[in-house]
Amino acid sequence: MIFTVAIDGPAAAGKGTISRAVAARFGFAHLDTGALYRAVGVKGGDPVAAARDLTPEDLARDDLRTLAAGQAASKVAVIPEVRQALLDFQRRFARREGGAVLDGRDIGTVICPAAEVKLFVTASPEVRAHRRWLEVGGDAAQVLAEVRERDERDMNRADAPLRPAEDATRLDTSDLSIEEATARAIALVAARLG
Ligand code: CDP
Ligand code: CDP
Repeated sequence: MIFTVAIDGPAAAGKGTISRAVAARFGFAHLDTGALYRAVGVKGGDPVAAARDLTPEDLARDDLRTLAAGQAASKVAVIPEVRQALLDFQRRFARREGGAVLDGRDIGTVICPAAEVKLFVTASPEVRAHRRWLEVGGDAAQVLAEVRERDERDMNRADAPLRPAEDATRLDTSDLSIEEATARAIALVAARLG
């Protein structure tokens, strides 16, 4: 069975948590596409070359989830040649046998416009920054500033900007527990699977 679930949205909206739960529930494979951009961002050197030669070791680095890696990711993510270099891998993953969940910024719009289920997960910047601060600690005001800066860069780039696909279902998780948000996503997928 070929079945793609596309989950997009801004930083710390809950995409990764929801994606992992959906993948576990239905036995689908999961790809965190943000990790690809984070790995390119932290690798240094020429980002286009880094994107073309990403290795499993690059994706296993333990510094990928830092705020700095998030910033570095969004800076290399504006480069069309970087996005192009990562495209085929993501598309092949999306259409692999057995079902796939991909989370990122452009899955429903660019990587997999024909995805069977598209979800656009959001929450207010304050809620998202608070969630990220609980994970990484440090100065809460700086975490909020960085979340806003990254959202701006992701929404305003020319190539594959962050925006909901026309046919995406919106899920605002500001006032939802992670269990409620996950249950809604699972219900959507179950309905489409029939
Ligand atoms: O992948 P993304 O950056 O969109 O977000 P995440 O890593 O799934 O979620 C960021 C943090 O927010 C995690 O610690 C989640 O457990 C938490 N979260 C939450 O508390 N309530 C939600 N409804 C969604 C996420
Ligand atoms: O987990 P969080 O939402 O904070 O970030 P992420 O999903 O790991 O993505 C890090 C950065 O990579 C984003 O801010 C985007 O600039 C970029 N990205 C992208 O351009 N396209 C994707 N499909 C995924 C991530």
